Amino acid sequence: MYFVANWKMYGNLSSLNTLNKVIKFSKSKAINKGRLIYCPPNTLISPLSKKFSNCQIAIGAQNCHENESYGPFTGFVNCKMLKNIGAQFVIVGHSENRKKGENDKLINLKIKSALKAKLKVIFCIGETLVEKRKKKTKSILSNQIKIGLKKVKNKSKIFIAYEPVWAIGTGIIPSSNDLIKTVQFIKSKFKKKFPKILYGGSVNPKNIKNLKEIDNIDGFLIGGASQNANKFIDIVKKTYS
Ligand code: 13P
Repeated sequence: MYFVANWKMYGNLSSLNTLNKVIKFSKSKAINKGRLIYCPPNTLISPLSKKFSNCQIAIGAQNCHENESYGPFTGFVNCKMLKNIGAQFVIVGHSENRKKGENDKLINLKIKSALKAKLKVIFCIGETLVEKRKKKTKSILSNQIKIGLKKVKNKSKIFIAYEPVWAIGTGIIPSSNDLIKTVQFIKSKFKKKFPKILYGGSVNPKNIKNLKEIDNIDGFLIGGASQNANKFIDIVKKTYS
């Protein structure tokens, strides 16, 4: 199982001290089959990659520019630059960025440039509450997958993170039944081998007991709870207990 920490726009150099516990945990037997990936803000990727140099925890960025090469794009960073400072993954299509105007076509370009730079992609999809109420979940997810992965060949490097927008930061998660069906639906969109599927949205040490029972999920994308090392470790431990 994969446990991805998305720190969003939180954390500074001193926050990295809290990860000593996580490093210790990652070297213990209790980690079991858990694979940890930390996605800090870009400012912390380089120091974090030094900190994690002697452990198995991977690092990802939270977004990227779609251009493969350098260019006059003030304030942005491309995948080549992220790879250069130690990122192995990049999150693309997060709803917090879709809300700011990122569309499926742009996300498709970002995914392609990430794969070119040899980054693995955590591709976020999910419906809003209004879309859910209008029973549009399936058509929204289909479209996001269809356009986002258009002409993307190497699907083995893609993780799909199903993050219903209404579950992010709200403490509300989908019912087990709904989640099983949605994950099955996502898998049905892929002919041969499906990408790994993560669930994200209000994952915490309490609800992990229910979430871990959903056996077609390959892991979790964790926001708020991942900023607290104890909670993050607890989520992993409870997944295997
Ligand atoms: P929360 O876990 O805080 O709901 O955030 C989920 C998320 O957006 C992860 O990418």
